[in-house]
Amino acid sequence: MTDAKKRIFTGLQSSGQLHIGNYFGALKPFLDSYQNFDSFLMVADYHALTSLKDPVAVRESIYNVVRDYLAIGVDPSKAVIFQQSRVSEHTELAWILECLVSVSMLELGHAYKDKVAKGLEANAGLFNYPMLMAADIILYDTDIVPVGADQRQHVEYAREAAAKFNIAYGKTFVEPKELIADSVAIVPGTDGKKMSKSYGNTIPLFGTREEISKAVMSIVTDSSGERPEHVYAIHKLFRAEEELAPIYEANKGKYKALKEALIEDIDAFVAPMRERRAAITDEEIKHIIAEGSEKAKAIASAKMADVRGKVGVTLL
Ligand code: ADP
Ligand code: TRP
Repeated sequence: MTDAKKRIFTGLQSSGQLHIGNYFGALKPFLDSYQNFDSFLMVADYHALTSLKDPVAVRESIYNVVRDYLAIGVDPSKAVIFQQSRVSEHTELAWILECLVSVSMLELGHAYKDKVAKGLEANAGLFNYPMLMAADIILYDTDIVPVGADQRQHVEYAREAAAKFNIAYGKTFVEPKELIADSVAIVPGTDGKKMSKSYGNTIPLFGTREEISKAVMSIVTDSSGERPEHVYAIHKLFRAEEELAPIYEANKGKYKALKEALIEDIDAFVAPMRERRAAITDEEIKHIIAEGSEKAKAIASAKMADVRGKVGVTLL
């Protein structure tokens, strides 16, 4: 780490099979910038326990999320990739922060509120989720937290928790800022609406050629305009518009041919990632996580020694 580099920290929770919307909206902006920072990527396995109860699924999600990041090209020697549960200081600091913030603040937390609004019972872990996330972030004196818009409140809560601690016990934590890529366009799905796993309109990022073909062939086209807009909107993510112009000109009205051209371009783009993903072994992932967790632990334990002293539990 050079002194000039700011520290970024983000947490990864497996969100199932990634689609090209996730890639252009979340993964690519991270990939393009992480080397300019002192970067930490944490697998939020304890956060995952708020919803996953099957140990096999938990274990699989840990491997999967690391595999996804390595497959898109994150270089593990340029970012500290680690596992939350291996650094016990996270849950320890979360407790201390919980003793500083009010129940009414946590009651306004989106994840908890949404669950309750649906008439579902929320577990206490979900209620406390934002303070575990605050601990994740502030233990490392994080400057910037790149996240999706849905995580904005959580980063605000982390900032608030850091400020509360600093006021109560003296300046200890950096107050982190969220980095939300508003400029990233929303990638449309096969029906023209926002691509989202909950709408079933996705093109899988690591899909086989057959899966990509099936998704592209299902893109809704309408014959009113000059070109099939839903096809074009996705195509321009993969090829410059100047290059697309002659292809779309030559194939006016030939939707099948245009879809085939799109399949070619997506497949050419995805193939190296798909191959890389398939080649990454569990052993490699374990090794990367073990190394990263050791680095994280060294930072976190020094910070917690300071925190324990400040709150008064260290005997003098
Ligand atoms: P989904 O909508 O499929 O459930 P998630 O909510 O898990 O996706 O999103 C994970 C990340 O990917 C978020 O940072 C989100 O902003 C980004 N993302 C998801 N869908 C799109 C999209 N269609 N266009 C751009 N970014 C997206
Ligand atoms: N809550 C985040 C999500 O669902 C994951 C997460 C956990 C996280 N700890 C974090 C993100 C710390 C950024 C920083 O995506």
